Amino acid sequence: MSCAVERGIQHPSAMRATSQLPARLLLQRLLICFFLLSIAAGVTDKLERGQKLTDGDTLVSAGGSFTLGFFSPGASTKRYLGIWFSVSNDTVCWVANRDKPLLDKSGTLVLNDVGSLVLGDTSRRARTVWSSNFLPASAAAVQLLDSGNLVVRNGSSNASLWQSFDQPSDTLLPGMKLGKNVWTGGEWQLTSWSSADDPSPGDYRRTLQTTGLPEIILWYHDVKTYRTGPWNGIYFNGVPEARAYAGKYPLLVTSSPWETTYGYTAAPGAPLTRVVVNHTGKAERLEWDASSREWNRIFQGPRDPCDEYGKCGPFGLCDPEAASSGFCGCVAGFSAANTSALVVKDNADGCRRAAALDCAGGTTTDGFKVVSGMKLPDTQNASVDMGVTLEECRARCLANCSCLAYAAADIRGGGDGTGCVMWAYAIVDLRLVDRGQNLYLRLSKSEIGWP
Ligand SMILES: *[C@@H]1O[C@H](CO)[C@@H](O)[C@H](O)[C@H]1NC(C)=O
Ligand SMILES: *[C@@H]1O[C@H](CO)[C@@H](O)[C@H](O)[C@H]1NC(C)=O
Ligand SMILES: *[C@@H]1O[C@H](CO)[C@@H](O)[C@H](O)[C@H]1NC(C)=O
Ligand SMILES: *[C@@H]1O[C@H](CO)[C@@H](O)[C@H](O)[C@H]1NC(C)=O
Ligand SMILES: *[C@@H]1O[C@H](CO)[C@@H](O)[C@H](O)[C@H]1NC(C)=O
Ligand SMILES: *[C@@H]1O[C@H](CO)[C@@H](O)[C@H](O)[C@H]1NC(C)=O
Ligand SMILES: *[C@@H]1O[C@H](CO)[C@@H](O)[C@H](O)[C@H]1NC(C)=O
Repeated sequence: MSCAVERGIQHPSAMRATSQLPARLLLQRLLICFFLLSIAAGVTDKLERGQKLTDGDTLVSAGGSFTLGFFSPGASTKRYLGIWFSVSNDTVCWVANRDKPLLDKSGTLVLNDVGSLVLGDTSRRARTVWSSNFLPASAAAVQLLDSGNLVVRNGSSNASLWQSFDQPSDTLLPGMKLGKNVWTGGEWQLTSWSSADDPSPGDYRRTLQTTGLPEIILWYHDVKTYRTGPWNGIYFNGVPEARAYAGKYPLLVTSSPWETTYGYTAAPGAPLTRVVVNHTGKAERLEWDASSREWNRIFQGPRDPCDEYGKCGPFGLCDPEAASSGFCGCVAGFSAANTSALVVKDNADGCRRAAALDCAGGTTTDGFKVVSGMKLPDTQNASVDMGVTLEECRARCLANCSCLAYAAADIRGGGDGTGCVMWAYAIVDLRLVDRGQNLYLRLSKSEIGWP
């Protein structure tokens, strides 16, 4: 007899729930299973239709990695339904009722008779605090998977009607995605908590920018505060440190007619990991150290003044080593737009071209100067063609008077790279970075060829 597929939660309400099942034989088997399990393990990863999870009960994923239950964050006494790492029970990675806390311990999670997953409050008139939005009908079970994903299944099929991975909170786990689902028009994004004690949506969001080349943007409300730099085929161009952990946690960018997404997986045996956008506006990647029982930070962004979005203004160049001059300078062929501002070490007005370009009616005398070691500028409005060589890219950029700069879009093949990204608007958020790329900047011929 297999109990594994029919384990019930260890709670009196489970008995009431099973009594609604029609087949007597099944009922007997289930009751025996409950009895055995209450002795043997007392844990389950599943809630069947009609069953109830009350405050104090938990679901534990089959491999034991994740736990679902009610909790109060930090000093708060409010109750939330969430999923946390079993080894680190104050590390919550998903919250169902972020901005609808329960005020006491009367919460219940039910997969109700019409097959909808409902978090209610029994102290008052069966208030619905949260419900998953899928077409009800035939949902038979909700299961907490060992990936940390809570899925509602249609009958015994594997097809999920709803999953918590589609409604991220502030944490990206292996197997989750950021970006756009072209098919449904939906977007996956992370939103910080309001504070350590309050999981309601806070000031910061982290999204995948899907125009130009894919890159991850951190937002304070509607203002960009930090970007990772564009995807270069291997890692995000401004985060070279990802090379150190990409073997353990392979990064995955998918551009297809159905989706433009970023996600990552965990190699077999790799430690637990998570990416969080915290309420102070930092994105972090952490890794669990089982021996010290602590989370170690292996990435944080923004990490220095040059990561501050657009710090040096249009055509400005930020150098993290140049603290004494306020970090900001201009790219070759440009000088500070506001000379008095440069004196006060603030370059927010950006830089101005020293010598005008010469391009009209299909002829030009302009050329390109290579600026190396770059985190490439924001590609939001850049045009991209993955299918051309860098030489063709140069020719295209030269032939179009609006083109201000170009760079390779993909460095996987080594050398100077392939593919083409071209900027026709201001060059914004440029900085020096380890293993940075070449940016080819259009300049007047009078500026080219100087040493
Ligand atoms: C969380 O874990 C700590 C230490 O592992 C334990 O003392 C505490 O009781 C746990 N809290 C809950 C709510 O399970
Ligand atoms: C659920 O399963 C039933 C029968 O297997 C099927 O007819 C129905 O279309 C499925 N519903 C969804 C939303 O997948
Ligand atoms: C359901 O998923 C499990 C685990 O991913 C897999 O082993 C199994 O073959 C799947 N079953 C069907 C019918 O797709
Ligand atoms: C937020 O992240 C930063 C950078 O990793 C870290 O220094 C800080 O302690 C974090 N704050 C909280 C409240 O977790
Ligand atoms: C130049 O910068 C200074 C100091 O930041 C500012 O007061 C002034 O308005 C700026 N001038 C122009 C023309 O933007
Ligand atoms: C791209 O264009 C939009 C709309 O004109 C503008 O708001 C945005 O600032 C531009 N982004 C960059 C990086 O230039
Ligand atoms: C030149 O570049 C601009 C900006 O990317 C674009 O809108 C325009 O279509 C291009 N012109 C030609 C002739 O390709």
